[in-house]
Amino acid sequence: MKATVAPSLLLLLLLPVVAIAADPWGNADAKAGKIKHEEKCVACHVRLYGGDGSKMYTRDGRLLMTKLDVLQRTATCNSQIQAGWFPDEEAEVAAYLNQQYYHFKD
Ligand code: HEC
Repeated sequence: MKATVAPSLLLLLLLPVVAIAADPWGNADAKAGKIKHEEKCVACHVRLYGGDGSKMYTRDGRLLMTKLDVLQRTATCNSQIQAGWFPDEEAEVAAYLNQQYYHFKD
């Protein structure tokens, strides 16, 4: 009995760790991120690339390769333009950008 209980308990303990590793933004609300992104970020990207500005994220030679890159770049832009977001708000925007444009798996 003991021999079978122990491994499954171990698995249960590891599950949350795996979930966190999958998404650096945890389960941040991408819908809230969409709104924040429209408020603070889109206008400048539109000035640079026209259209809806999304070419910034889909252009050839784009800079980002992982989910963590998206989160870090969002944090950098936040501080550059002094949007004043807290880390959980950065997480929402990063979650939105990945869901909508980048589709990174790691
Ligand atoms: C004042 C103009 C401006 C504003 C405002 C701005 N950005 Fe940017 N953003 C840029 C420029 C310029 C680049 C390209 C940087 C480069 O090519 O090195 C960029 C690049 C990016 C990239 C990387 C694109 C890629 O894949 O190569 C992301 C992600 C991004 N911005 C997110 C944001 C977010 C999130 C906000 C809002 C907090 C924001 N930006 C606000 C000008 C802006």
